Amino acid sequence: MAYYHRMGTIPPKRHTQFRQPDGSLFKEEVVSSKGFSGIYSILYHIHNPNEVKSIGIPKPFSWKPATDHGLNQTHLKTSDVQFTGEDYLDARRNLMMNSDVMMGICSPRKRKMEYYFKNADGDELIYVHDGEGVMYSQFGKLEVRKGDYIVIPRTTIYRFEFEEEGPLRLLIIESKGAIETVNRYRNEVGQLLEHSPYCERDIRPPHELHIEKEQGDYLVQIKKQGMLHQYSYGHSPLDIVGWDGYLYPYALSIYDFEPITGRIHQPPPVHQTFQAFGFVICSFVPRLFDYHPLSIPAPYNHSNIDSDEVLYYAEGEFMSRKGIDRGSFTIHMGGLPHGPHPGTVEKSIGAKSTDEYAVMLDTFKSLQITTDALEFVDENYPMSWTE
Ligand SMILES: [Fe+2]
Repeated sequence: MAYYHRMGTIPPKRHTQFRQPDGSLFKEEVVSSKGFSGIYSILYHIHNPNEVKSIGIPKPFSWKPATDHGLNQTHLKTSDVQFTGEDYLDARRNLMMNSDVMMGICSPRKRKMEYYFKNADGDELIYVHDGEGVMYSQFGKLEVRKGDYIVIPRTTIYRFEFEEEGPLRLLIIESKGAIETVNRYRNEVGQLLEHSPYCERDIRPPHELHIEKEQGDYLVQIKKQGMLHQYSYGHSPLDIVGWDGYLYPYALSIYDFEPITGRIHQPPPVHQTFQAFGFVICSFVPRLFDYHPLSIPAPYNHSNIDSDEVLYYAEGEFMSRKGIDRGSFTIHMGGLPHGPHPGTVEKSIGAKSTDEYAVMLDTFKSLQITTDALEFVDENYPMSWTE
């Protein structure tokens, strides 16, 4: 993360004696990225984080690309899906993937996780499409609500407790590289600049430390190389009395993203919200349309010669599309042009604003849909530009 944060009690000097009330030392853990060259935080545990009680049999946890889907403009109709599985991990349905990123949905029947999860393979970006709750992690308590992006750095140990009432639908992106704020919106020390669509005030780090002191049986499921490794401890992994640093999970609401508009159509980079190795994430939010007297608010046809473009339609009516519902995905693949559906260009002329919300994933390597996605494919979509 781009700014320093601290919570709880920490010693005045790092790597020095910091004692518990009974005289024993707190156990210091440096959680660092890019070896010792990236962002890091220093955590103080009550118990030794290496004190493993038992290791169970790992469970397979991976997705396969649907290799025969081919070059097709793709619409995945996932709007009617109510539940995707029993609990948080079981309910994860990755729908598209390449070697840098996976993206999918998660609507678990069980709202409260009875275990902890650690993704050791990559950073996670969770967009809360529906639902609200609390994320408990080693870094504290973070309240999450509809419209939030939650950025979770790899190795963060966490569990969610979502409210029992109302729908729950998460869009989950897993990235091999770190998920970061956008370089061109930061100054040389990392502060978000004046032209950034959001700033530090919009970023919500954990707001309250959450310390679990009771001894017991604590299961941490660790995702590593396509498996869920089953690690049991006699103490909670959330036994942190204090931490400080730049590495921690945080939330940013799509409702706090300030759109950049212009006299003529603005390209997708103005909607960019996050960057990572091999892809970008953009947010389409309600905004005033272009104000040149002859402007065309709908986008032009375009060919992405070196990227695949995924849109997840969150709210409102998407002006350039027909037959798309809330919760639909479209994947417009590099190698084919794409653009507004027939009639939508003319219809957009004179429109003053849009109320749409959408999350976009633009990848620089080709994506493949997974075998899990095949049941959602709208077979008519590739021909939907022909009247
Ligand atoms: Fe596009």
